[in-house]
Amino acid sequence: MKGFSGALKLCVLASGEGSNLKAILKARNSGKIKSRVALVISNNSRAGALAIAEKNAIPAVHLSIKQFKSEKDFIKSFLSLLSAHKIDLIILAGYLKMLSPLIVKKYHNRILNIHPALLPDFGGEGMYGLNVHKAVISSGRKTSGATVHLVDEAYDSGEVILQKEVKVDSSDTAESLQEKILKVEHRLYPEAIKLFEENKINIVRAKTK
Ligand code: GRF
Repeated sequence: MKGFSGALKLCVLASGEGSNLKAILKARNSGKIKSRVALVISNNSRAGALAIAEKNAIPAVHLSIKQFKSEKDFIKSFLSLLSAHKIDLIILAGYLKMLSPLIVKKYHNRILNIHPALLPDFGGEGMYGLNVHKAVISSGRKTSGATVHLVDEAYDSGEVILQKEVKVDSSDTAESLQEKILKVEHRLYPEAIKLFEENKINIVRAKTK
């Protein structure tokens, strides 16, 4: 197993707002993490994440399968970007596309995702954005939370790295729950990156030491 230590080069993949990207940049600026966001890729040309990257002078690339003749060409281009920027760790932050199994294989145990619920509950295909919080509220659960996990070939199914619970109040709506959990995500993702930096993740069992 390749050990990680020290500052890593991160590639953030995002389709939307980019508030997790912002939180990661803030964590680096304040010294909470050493790793540097070296590349941001989005399938959505209007993603807030691309604008945030540009504002911070980080290479920002709109990369969509629609720009290519074949899936093979798309994956080739994706992989060559990652290798040109010497990416150590891929950070999915609201990336709404399934990563190609070829990318998952090449970056085995080096891809993280954040999910706005306590996996394995409320995960899987279609479980993104407000859908997740609506499902939690209709289930009557009193707790939800955020999960950082390794990415494998299926949706939301890789080993859990970190989880943090958030109380669901009876007055919560899907929107208010989303807001509360997003704040927790912004602390949790840098913490997970720090575990990688300090080589404190035992990938074989995927449990923190
Ligand atoms: C977050 O809620 C994250 O858990 C989910 O997508 C959302 C991304 O938000 N995977 P943002 O684009 O980082 O603001």
